[in-house]
Amino acid sequence: MYDFSLGTKEQVFSNEIEFLIAVKRMLPRYLNSIPDNEFTAICMLADEQGRLAEIKNAVFIETGVGASTIALYWYACKYEIDLYSWDISSAKAAVIRQVLSEALGQYCGLPQERWKYISWDSTSPYLGIQALKDSGFTCYLSFHDSDHTWVNIEKELQGLAPMLVKNSVVALDDANLHWTSVNMGLVNTFRKKLGWPIIDVDGEMQEFKGEIHWKLVKQFLENRFKKIEGIEDYFKRNFQNDPYFVYFNTEFIEKVSLGTEQTEQLQHRFDAFRIIDLD
Ligand SMILES: C[S@@+](CC[C@H](N)C(=O)[O-])C[C@H]1O[C@@H](n2cnc3c(N)ncnc32)[C@H](O)[C@@H]1O
Repeated sequence: MYDFSLGTKEQVFSNEIEFLIAVKRMLPRYLNSIPDNEFTAICMLADEQGRLAEIKNAVFIETGVGASTIALYWYACKYEIDLYSWDISSAKAAVIRQVLSEALGQYCGLPQERWKYISWDSTSPYLGIQALKDSGFTCYLSFHDSDHTWVNIEKELQGLAPMLVKNSVVALDDANLHWTSVNMGLVNTFRKKLGWPIIDVDGEMQEFKGEIHWKLVKQFLENRFKKIEGIEDYFKRNFQNDPYFVYFNTEFIEKVSLGTEQTEQLQHRFDAFRIIDLD
């Protein structure tokens, strides 16, 4: 089903990102949750970080399976490192496994070899990100795109921090959201579908809205490490011309009204930070 012919091997390897974007565009919408230029930014970072991760026991980490898995898996295979992905939806992971296998398998081998999928809460002390450090892994690239609340992101970062090394990169999707403990945008989306009244988060429920996430992540990393740097990534330079926003415009307008998308600080929807000095 996903084994479309997308060029010769030479063509694929000489233009990896074009090939990966073509695979991304074959995904059903519920698995394609990031703009094309964000996907390209992840590809570029994964290529750079994979090249740096020459040492043994280096891994890539991802929370929230989907289009991003395709990019991260490709470069994990290219540099012979493992990709660890967390998602509580094994139904999503099953389709992505099929895509990895059918569309990328002939170039990368079977996903069982390098894709370590964990169908569990990313913040669990027993099966979450923090449990990985006991295996002595270092992480050169992490991408956080699971539950877009600060409570969840902070726990993921706390679990991740001991595995970060000099020059590693921490990246996030939807970093321009504000949710504190509950993603009320998602809650309101489901409530609207059910015909239930929308909760007014700008009225009496203001406790659900806090500081914008990219600033909190920056602060977290600055407190934890001696020196970090915001990356001027491909998405920041190209977000205004992203075909994804045009293609899904009707849905985007609805999402903005419900709060699962924000037009505010759209350049920070994707953000990436490099750890320059550990301590
Ligand atoms: C926005 S989607 C991921 C999109 C994907 N990165 C992409 O590029 O299309 C978020 C996913 O995170 C998962 N999720 C939410 N909270 C989680 C958690 N604490 N641990 C693991 N998965 C979680 C959901 O099941 C959902 O599939």
